[in-house]
Amino acid sequence: MADPVLKWAGGKRQLLDELKARFPTTDYTHFHEPFFGGGALFFDLEPEDGTINDTNPRLVNFYKQVRDNPTDLIELLDTEFRDPDADPNPDLEYHDTNHKGKAIDEFYYQARALFNKRPYGEDFDALREAALLLYLNRTCYNGLYRENNSGGFNVPIGSYTNPDWVQADRITTASRILEDTTIHNDDFEYILDAATAGDLVYFDPPYKPMSATAYFTDYSQDGFDQTDQQRLLDVASELDDRGVHVILSNSGVMYDLYDDAGFHVEVEGATRAINSDGTNRDEVDEIIATTIAPTDQRGPTQQGLTDYTN
Ligand SMILES: C[S@@+](CC[C@H](N)C(=O)[O-])C[C@H]1O[C@@H](n2cnc3c(N)ncnc32)[C@H](O)[C@@H]1O
Repeated sequence: MADPVLKWAGGKRQLLDELKARFPTTDYTHFHEPFFGGGALFFDLEPEDGTINDTNPRLVNFYKQVRDNPTDLIELLDTEFRDPDADPNPDLEYHDTNHKGKAIDEFYYQARALFNKRPYGEDFDALREAALLLYLNRTCYNGLYRENNSGGFNVPIGSYTNPDWVQADRITTASRILEDTTIHNDDFEYILDAATAGDLVYFDPPYKPMSATAYFTDYSQDGFDQTDQQRLLDVASELDDRGVHVILSNSGVMYDLYDDAGFHVEVEGATRAINSDGTNRDEVDEIIATTIAPTDQRGPTQQGLTDYTN
């Protein structure tokens, strides 16, 4: 039951018990997570193999580095991302000025500019890119990944005292868990080639907004629109036809679509706030839809008592 390494918008840590209660009573073969993000369910399950996927190339590069180069990644984070002028006082707010009166946040904004300039051509430094992503993720406002229309990461600095962006233990653990996992950087439809009968797939797409003011599709410059939602339903139905177990979370407005398609759908009642731009908090009903009949589901376990820290 490991923790995610990155904080990610739409992270599913609060929904873990409800998701696991829908798992089949029979064993499944491989576990797949085609909309990975922070991968809260994957890390909690610690599956031995299977696949993960995300369309975000920076995120995918990050997990490949975590899997393949954990020691180098930790070392780089521990050495390079420290402002030599920073005040050693651990109580100093990260966004404050240090003992020399220098604004610490300059360092953050330089790192952010570097991250956005980083070329994807032959000069691409995969390890440094991964380190920058974790550094920014752990020090940015609310730990939210958001890109502007040109694909630039545009979240301002967060307000932290002595933030830990090295996350050495989590990287080491995640690396072990990812060891035999295949990591894709594709559209979610790759799953039609990857999953076979007896596997379990968890889909956690960007949610369809409940209201015009909800910005659930802001994970990257490519939104996830109604056509994508319909494609997802078609893919989930095809997997079901092939004997693959499917569990899916989505916003409450998708209830009828999945219900009409014959999925077992339940509203999770609990509301979840996503803060996309620092000012806008929206609450949403969530549904969990699954192809697994209620009589074949594991049901609630004592794992509901687990306390997750961040
Ligand atoms: C709701 S988040 C997943 C959150 C994750 N379950 C967690 O616990 O952190 C959705 C993810 O889907 C990715 N995504 C968006 N469009 C996609 C597509 N067409 N195919 C695959 N992934 C996509 C986004 O980059 C984002 O990371």
